[in-house]
Amino acid sequence: MAIISLINRKGGVGKSTISVNLAAGLAIHLSRKPGSKSVLLIDMDDQLSATITAMGGGFDDKFQPVITAEKDYASALGQGYGASDSLIVDSLIPRDRQEKVKLFRTNKARMEALEATLKQREDAPFQLTYFLEPIKHEYSYIIIDNPPSAGMLPMNSLVASTHVLIPIEPDGLSLIGLADILRMIENVKRTTNPDLNVLGIIPSRFRMMRRQARDVIGDMERMYGHLLLPYIKDLAEISAATTAGYDVFSYCSEKSQAYRCLSNLVDAVLGKLGQA
Ligand SMILES: Nc1ncnc2c1ncn2[C@@H]1O[C@H](COP(=O)(O)OP(=O)(O)OP(=O)(O)O)[C@@H](O)[C@H]1O
Ligand SMILES: [Mg+2]
Repeated sequence: MAIISLINRKGGVGKSTISVNLAAGLAIHLSRKPGSKSVLLIDMDDQLSATITAMGGGFDDKFQPVITAEKDYASALGQGYGASDSLIVDSLIPRDRQEKVKLFRTNKARMEALEATLKQREDAPFQLTYFLEPIKHEYSYIIIDNPPSAGMLPMNSLVASTHVLIPIEPDGLSLIGLADILRMIENVKRTTNPDLNVLGIIPSRFRMMRRQARDVIGDMERMYGHLLLPYIKDLAEISAATTAGYDVFSYCSEKSQAYRCLSNLVDAVLGKLGQA
């Protein structure tokens, strides 16, 4: 069992896109292993991008409105009681497999209030850990998508996780941001969760044509070479799949760059977890 958080306080670097596709890719991997457990995707961001994509995209008539549920994840977590099975539903991804990634019913307004609600509780950073404790062993992988912040929500995710993945869009300032995130992780490791490991850094939305992107990747290789995972190119097909509410593995052909980038990433993650 691995609990993997996707973290970067910078917005738009591909956290949600990678969360959705990693969850789908791991579910496809598990579907080849009879009798295995499922993948749970947790959306900690009130933008609900991962939830919307995993439920079919907001503009599709197949879209399933789990984001307006009465009994929902945000209130369950905010009120500090354990997860109940009735909160967990099948998503639509991977589209072309029977066994789906699981997801919590959620509510946008309550998600927006979640950071403040959690802060009112004692042991604020531990609420997600307590919430997941009774259910985590029912899953092989739990993927947590996070908002672009360094606040109480990502803090809860880091305390509850076994691993972190850091998507980085390689540009001039991203190395400074990366040093900040690594410091935040070190801090959590030292104070609350010694079991937390950085699984890797994912250069994301990579444009080979950009000299600056190539330079930054060079710097990352020198400084963090052992942590670098296969990079994800900036490809129209990846954003088209996300907008359509599909995982890349169902939307794109196996020979496409998008499919190959993301399946290389899934393989590398499995390799690092020692479960290839
Ligand atoms: N590899 C990619 N190629 C092309 N477009 C991408 C890629 N990755 C993400 N995008 C697009 O970039 C936008 C931001 O991506 P995404 O929502 O995954 O980032 P994020 O880090 O989760 O953002 P936020 O911080 O706002 O939550 C989306 O429109 C998405 O479709
Ligand atoms: Mg996001």
